[in-house]
Amino acid sequence: MRAILLVLAAAAVLAAGVVYAQSGADVVKAKGCLNCHKMDKKKVGSAFKDIAAKYKGDKDAEGKLVEKLKEGKGHAKAAASDAEIKAAVQYVLSAK
Ligand code: HEC
Repeated sequence: MRAILLVLAAAAVLAAGVVYAQSGADVVKAKGCLNCHKMDKKKVGSAFKDIAAKYKGDKDAEGKLVEKLKEGKGHAKAAASDAEIKAAVQYVLSAK
């Protein structure tokens, strides 16, 4: 019983760590996305909220936007790891 609890506790700590390291909210801050985007108002680029609305219902939105940011096609190339870009895109698409 004790061993099981310890395993569960360790798993919870690990899961929390992963979420923190790749949190989209952290990435858009750390990678300068917020220099050009705001959550709810147009700046240099569209509000994340408007981008989310534009791609609503598009099942492949995440893939398309990750590609765009990774390749620098139609957007400044993001200087971030694949995992970070993915987290940032998920964050943008979940903006309300
Ligand atoms: C130098 C300014 C600048 C920076 C930095 C920037 N963006 Fe953008 N972004 C733009 C502009 C300009 C557009 C195109 C107009 C629009 O749709 O907002 C855009 C568009 C987008 C779009 C929509 C693309 C589409 O097809 O509709 C997403 C998603 C996006 N940016 C995410 C990000 C993320 C995530 C980061 C950080 C890694 C980032 N941007 C950093 C300026 C910037």
